[in-house]
Amino acid sequence: MATSPGAPCSVSAAPVFLKAAEIEASLELAAERCEDLTPLVYAKVFERHPEMLPHFWRDTKDAIKGEMLSRTFSAILDFVGERRYADHMILTEMVTHEGYDVPREVFATFFGFVRDAVREVLGADWTPPFAQAWDELLAEIDGYIASASAPLLQPAS
Ligand code: HEM
Repeated sequence: MATSPGAPCSVSAAPVFLKAAEIEASLELAAERCEDLTPLVYAKVFERHPEMLPHFWRDTKDAIKGEMLSRTFSAILDFVGERRYADHMILTEMVTHEGYDVPREVFATFFGFVRDAVREVLGADWTPPFAQAWDELLAEIDGYIASASAPLLQPAS
């Protein structure tokens, strides 16, 4: 059907993440089960990257860790939803974190630790559709970070 001149036109340019509902449901369930995922997530970060612990020297009350995690949850929800800012925010933070001596490869692993913590808290309620959705989300974020980083990693000609 032809669109009449002057008719309202709303075309979203945001890429669609098809399993957004599973990501949202898993995060909601985790929030119901566990008031604060911060200790669980960072235990995983420091187990895998112990060299990152000293970088949090200012964070004596875990406020930075909590804020970072909460901003990551928001970014994930935006990334699977409207994607109004999350893609840019992730890249900006990736560069900012280099200033904290957090390499890009380490930065990118944080999303996987969030997934692992959610899976642990959900236990038997972690379903195959949740697993599939998170696999796809992590692959998409990894691909996005890798493609955005690629030009910066090429040697200058
Ligand atoms: C294992 C991966 C990561 C490590 C080791 C890490 C490390 C850090 C450190 C050391 C700081 C505090 C710097 C300071 O002293 O002020 C920080 C802050 C922050 N990080 Fe991360 N980061 C990681 C991944 C991420 C990711 C994936 C995001 C979001 C996409 C993120 C978002 C933030 C934000 C928003 C802050 C500022 C928090 C605040 O002070 O208000 N980080 N991060």
